[in-house]
Amino acid sequence: MYYPEEIIEEVRERNDIVDVISGYVKLQKKGSNYFGLCPFHNEKSPSFSVSPQKQMYYCFGCGAGGNVITFVMEYENYSFQEALKMLADRAGIKLPEAEYSKEEREKADKRTALLEVNKLAANYFYYQLNQPQGKRGYEYFKRRGLTEETIRRFGLGYANKTSDDLYRYLKSKGYRDDFLKESGLVTLEERGSYDKFWNRVMFPIMDANSRVIGFGGRVMGDGEPKYLNSPETLIFDKGRNLYGLNYARTSREKCLLVCEGYMDVIAMHQAGFANAVASLGTALTSRHAALLKRYTEQVVLTYDSDGAGVKAALRAIPILREAGVSTRVLNLNPYKDPDEFIKNLGEEEFQKRIDEARNSFLFEIDVLRRNYQTEDPEQKTRFVRAAAERLLVFEEAMERDNYIQAVAREQMLPYEELRRLVNRLGNMPGTSQTVRERQTADSREREKKKKKDDGSRRAQRLLLTWLIERPELFDKIGETIGAEDFVEPLYHQVAEMVFAGHRQGNVNPAEILNHFINDEEEYKEVAALFHARLEESLGNEEQKKAFSDIVYRVKKNSLDHASQNATDIGELQRIIQEQAALKRISVTID
Ligand code: UTP
Ligand code: MN
Repeated sequence: MYYPEEIIEEVRERNDIVDVISGYVKLQKKGSNYFGLCPFHNEKSPSFSVSPQKQMYYCFGCGAGGNVITFVMEYENYSFQEALKMLADRAGIKLPEAEYSKEEREKADKRTALLEVNKLAANYFYYQLNQPQGKRGYEYFKRRGLTEETIRRFGLGYANKTSDDLYRYLKSKGYRDDFLKESGLVTLEERGSYDKFWNRVMFPIMDANSRVIGFGGRVMGDGEPKYLNSPETLIFDKGRNLYGLNYARTSREKCLLVCEGYMDVIAMHQAGFANAVASLGTALTSRHAALLKRYTEQVVLTYDSDGAGVKAALRAIPILREAGVSTRVLNLNPYKDPDEFIKNLGEEEFQKRIDEARNSFLFEIDVLRRNYQTEDPEQKTRFVRAAAERLLVFEEAMERDNYIQAVAREQMLPYEELRRLVNRLGNMPGTSQTVRERQTADSREREKKKKKDDGSRRAQRLLLTWLIERPELFDKIGETIGAEDFVEPLYHQVAEMVFAGHRQGNVNPAEILNHFINDEEEYKEVAALFHARLEESLGNEEQKKAFSDIVYRVKKNSLDHASQNATDIGELQRIIQEQAALKRISVTID
């Protein structure tokens, strides 16, 4: 379903953002903007701002941002089409019929088409589950204790025994073979095309906005593989999505529960723990951690209690620590996973285990201890040394000391001795120290790279924000800066639109955002672009200086970039001349 840009823009214009958001969030006017408590993360003081001029919102706390359409998408977990429909209804606009020809479909953006085909497949599987031929699947879910409502909520389905009926169904909808192959739903072989999933119960995997991006299919009973998953596609990136997040993100609990699999998430949600998510067979990545961090400060790991689960927890803890998420580990004993635990002991007992979940560092020490027979003095000494080395991860003195105290108390070691040992190791060029230095050197290297990158990106962001807030500055930058000087690809696209808007006498951030609405990551970044914090506290002189610095920085960065990519000597010479001239250029506010 594709709508012409004018329609989207009309819907957006006819829904004032302050009006719409006021229906969800209590807003207060402060200066030219409105402020309230951010609905997308937990906070006590308002950092969520709505700008009537820009017709945009932005949260300085969690970085959520966008226009009125993305607000409704995010808040209501609506797809773009659903949000557009709701806002069109609200403004009394009739959307055109949304049935499109094959040609139009082929023209359309591939991502949208992939989302669409996944949705069709999900509906197909769901439909099958409720047909006579789906009885086996339906009974399987029932046997595992799922209610009707849970099945509906998670869109569970059934892929029947016929091995090409989904393929034929999608063909009848006009999709081409090569596209279907790319969707991962179909495998093309010489003898014919087959459904990837057959004779399995189906779990659609949804992104944070409840759009189906892939599937997991489970055998009903024993068989290999137990779960078959969609391959990664343009829209399905396993390292970046968490199963259940579409619901968990709005659960408004103070922590998120992270588990291993589909059935655990579903069992927890059914038991009332709607804050559960899973990383689905892949180990937790730093991108998962960053995603979690967007919604919570605190994670409780509810991995399986077997060896693999403990290992997975030990891998996840440092990743979460690095991302700044505080982590605790839930004890499922004597059961294997959350699903089994809840079936046997019920939700109250599970809640208790959440409340008692163990600090992740102390959990690491517990696991470490299992490797030593601590009744033996020699082994105990080795354990204490190893624990002391671990304690070096805390760089901040007070935090380290608190952990030294906790470990001393729990492992019944004399506090003073342990503290001295830790500090001695910290000052010693021993192996552990080298390891630690290497680690921090690594992260320092990464930090540095990030900083540099952030520096030039930040300058580009600030300059765009500045130009939008104070259009008179376009005259000041004159010939010095053009859209092409914004070298970050996404910023470049935006700059093109901002400059074009300026030439026509109207820069319209909320409209520009419409062009990025199909990609959550992108529109968030673009929204942030229009809200880079200008130093309002700066005095006049300081502002002037800041502005010149930023212009200089953007230009310099653009020239450096050009010289790195120059392909012939003439071009390079021109760039070098410009680089030399740059030192003499000065762009100021007045
Ligand atoms: P588990 O083997 O622990 O399965 O794998 P489970 O979640 O307890 O499932 P049930 O209760 O037996 O139905 C945990 C997760 O690892 C991934 C799946 O995401 C699964 O939910 N996995 C496991 C696969 O992707 N493929 C497999 O063959 C097995
Ligand atoms: Mn299980």
